[in-house]
Amino acid sequence: MKLEIYPNHEEQSQAAALLMWEAVHQKPDAVITLATGDSPKRAYQLFIEKVLGNGTDTSQLFFTGLDEWVDVSPDNPGSCHYFLHEHLFQPLKLSSAQYHLFSSDSSKADSVCAQMNQVLASRGGIDLMVVGVGVNGHIGFNEPGASLDKEAHVADLEPITLQIGQKYFDGKTAIRQGLTLGLKQVMAAKALLVLANGEKKATIIHKALQGEIGPEVPVSLVRQHNQGIVMLDEAAAALLKN
Ligand code: F6R
Repeated sequence: MKLEIYPNHEEQSQAAALLMWEAVHQKPDAVITLATGDSPKRAYQLFIEKVLGNGTDTSQLFFTGLDEWVDVSPDNPGSCHYFLHEHLFQPLKLSSAQYHLFSSDSSKADSVCAQMNQVLASRGGIDLMVVGVGVNGHIGFNEPGASLDKEAHVADLEPITLQIGQKYFDGKTAIRQGLTLGLKQVMAAKALLVLANGEKKATIIHKALQGEIGPEVPVSLVRQHNQGIVMLDEAAAALLKN
């Protein structure tokens, strides 16, 4: 695992955008899995600027979502669907054949998960996965104690995740569970980029990078990933020793 600490969120986002751009430049048919949320938002903007500014060919790229809120409609601005369309797919003018997202309908969850697994397997797995970090150490919706053996599945979410999750929605929204790629897929990604910024992430980053490695703090597993890269700003790195 590689650890990179930047003076601020902007510089961290520039580095993340460059890494993403290099990945697509080197492999124009890369399969990229993306988290949503505040941590990667600026990096995605900068990535798009780079792609458009360099005239990078995006016609063969393929994206998947990392997760989705169960039973939250895709036209809800707080959904992962909405975020990825607004922040990536539309600005890049991708065709609908170039991405696959979790459909949030709980009544179809088994087939939605099976389909996600099948799409990823048929494309030879994930070349680059970009993730954020929950204050409880989650990756995607793999909460503390998640199974290392699971692929896409429905996860019960911890109260803290449900509480913080409200920040993505315009009004109070009923969220209960998440659909997520599993830790097996996280660890199998050919490269794993973990982004965390801000003081609120400092405690969990300290635990993840300098505590025990294991599914109790899912993001700690990045330390066992051969191509794991953790990019932090100084505030998120503040409690790290040495
Ligand atoms: C969202 C996701 C979550 C977030 C995490 C951090 O798609 O996968 O695991 O990455 O909760 O959220 P932010 O970046 O908003 O602090």
